[in-house]
Amino acid sequence: MEKKPNPFIDWEALRSAFMPPMPPVQPMPGKGPGGRAGAPGVPVGPTGPDPARFADMYNIMAEMEREYTYNQVNCIDVEPGDTVLDIGCGPGRVSCAMAERAKSVTALDINQSCLDYCLNNAKERGLDNVSTVLMDWNDVDPGVNVGRHDIVIASRNPAMFDVRKLNDLASKYAVIIGWANAPCIPPIIEELFKDTEPERDRPAFPMFRQDRRLSYNINWNIVYDMGAEPNIRNVKDGFTKTFDNEDEAVSWLRRIRAFEDEYIPVFKKNLEPYMTKNADGSVTFRRETRSFVLWWKTI
Ligand SMILES: C[S@@+](CC[C@H](N)C(=O)[O-])C[C@H]1O[C@@H](n2cnc3c(N)ncnc32)[C@H](O)[C@@H]1O
Repeated sequence: MEKKPNPFIDWEALRSAFMPPMPPVQPMPGKGPGGRAGAPGVPVGPTGPDPARFADMYNIMAEMEREYTYNQVNCIDVEPGDTVLDIGCGPGRVSCAMAERAKSVTALDINQSCLDYCLNNAKERGLDNVSTVLMDWNDVDPGVNVGRHDIVIASRNPAMFDVRKLNDLASKYAVIIGWANAPCIPPIIEELFKDTEPERDRPAFPMFRQDRRLSYNINWNIVYDMGAEPNIRNVKDGFTKTFDNEDEAVSWLRRIRAFEDEYIPVFKKNLEPYMTKNADGSVTFRRETRSFVLWWKTI
């Protein structure tokens, strides 16, 4: 076999030299103190993320993202007999959409509250082919404690940063999904809830630097240099829901982040650019953004 030439650029070294360290993730029960590498887009406070609150928030966002999630899943060449592994599945946004097309989905996450939402969402959608695994991605040993699956997906989580491990877990395709130089969930939430509380109540939210030079191009190049042929698509993403009226919209949307009633006028003003009044009197909230889907036939 022809020897693969050494890459000209060490993309991983470049990324780790210029990207801030990942925020900590609270360890799983029984794992002892200390944080683990976390995911971009995961809200964390100074003491680390609150797993249950994170799951509540993300589940609301995932519900509003449901129609857009198909734009991502439609990029994946999945067959009815395929087995799928979704690393860092969260409340099963991608897992459930994939379970509608595949034979089965194994949804893996470090956060039990996310796995509970995931199973419940699958049940509500009439899907009985989703199973969950509570595990830290860093402990995944391909073929040893997690078996190979036909398709392995890493969407917005730390598995995106270990392309080789992802590749080794998949017998057909590995897939990476992330934000495509467009706002991810934390800045979207920050904008919607701007000035809805006294500043002193909330510690400054650690924003992830968004640098076009260190975006999906890094993983694309890593996959390419590994010897595979990467494909990429940028797709419309977003969050939407229609309500009977504005009051219903406000009370539903403020579940994302609690605030005092006195801030309702501020919240309404923040929502304004994203609200449309429909002919039947209902109102639609819609906040769009963009995601990328990068996939390759594994080698
Ligand atoms: C931003 S959410 C993405 C959820 C889902 N993949 C999606 O695209 O909607 C990141 C998820 O990765 C999980 N996660 C973070 N670090 C992890 C780790 N080390 N091992 C396993 N899961 C992890 C979090 O608990 C969270 O559910």
